[in-house]
Amino acid sequence: MRAAGCVFAEDEAELLLSGAPSADALAAMVERRVLGIPLEHVVGWAEFHGRRVAVDPGVFVPRRRTEFLVDQAIGLGRRSAARTGRPPVVVDLCCGSGAVGAVLAAALGRIELYAADIEPAAVRCARRTLAAAGGEVFAGDLFDALPAGLRGRIDVLVANVPYVPTEEVGLLPPEAREHEPLVALDGGADGLDVLRRVTAAAPAWLAPEGQLLVETSERQAPRAVEAFTRHGLLPRVTGSDELYATVVIGTRPATGEGTP
Ligand SMILES: C[S@@+](CC[C@H](N)C(=O)[O-])C[C@H]1O[C@@H](n2cnc3c(N)ncnc32)[C@H](O)[C@@H]1O
Repeated sequence: MRAAGCVFAEDEAELLLSGAPSADALAAMVERRVLGIPLEHVVGWAEFHGRRVAVDPGVFVPRRRTEFLVDQAIGLGRRSAARTGRPPVVVDLCCGSGAVGAVLAAALGRIELYAADIEPAAVRCARRTLAAAGGEVFAGDLFDALPAGLRGRIDVLVANVPYVPTEEVGLLPPEAREHEPLVALDGGADGLDVLRRVTAAAPAWLAPEGQLLVETSERQAPRAVEAFTRHGLLPRVTGSDELYATVVIGTRPATGEGTP
């Protein structure tokens, strides 16, 4: 595996050894890894926020940096529950494997959880992952996938949208470029196309004082903030140097209508 260019060959070999049910299965796993298939797709899971989350082939592998987004959402979910006295309504939009929703459910305890994605493989994977938490997973384009009854009710809306500018997709490591769907990576010309669509529609779906959280890059953050402000969401930017993560959080004001 080292000769094939696996950077953490020994650690990965140990994982494969502990996960393979037989010598034949181990040989097949090593072969797939050596061919450049992401380790998470080979073993069928990713470690995310201290949990093992199932990741099927063709589904975006949750990134360590997204743990920061999740930490922010946990804090806001707790505050929402304390303020309203009821379990928060949480939506994981662009849910991929369902990793974000799974961690939120585990950390927050009682929540009303919904998730959605446009990729059928992701929807299948997230359905299995979120079933234990009672989460419902819908298939479709952003908010179109959600039941209309959620309009105006969402307390915490997490959207880890694709945000790589189209021209930079080719610069991603081959593991991402070749084994994750383009729709999970490509955010359009400046990377913010999907984010802008989410900020435009979010106010109509958020409860008063509900919060939208999106991950972005530090470079994109000022333009992301503009998109939040344009649609009446009060934005703030937070980040983690350690995880190289930037998150924009927007609050729907308590008074007045969200901009549909
Ligand atoms: C960057 S991945 C994030 C996945 C997951 N939330 C995570 O953090 O691991 C973006 C996800 O958005 C989904 N997606 C892209 N465009 C979408 C759209 N228009 N509607 C719904 N989902 C979309 C992709 O299929 C992909 O699963």
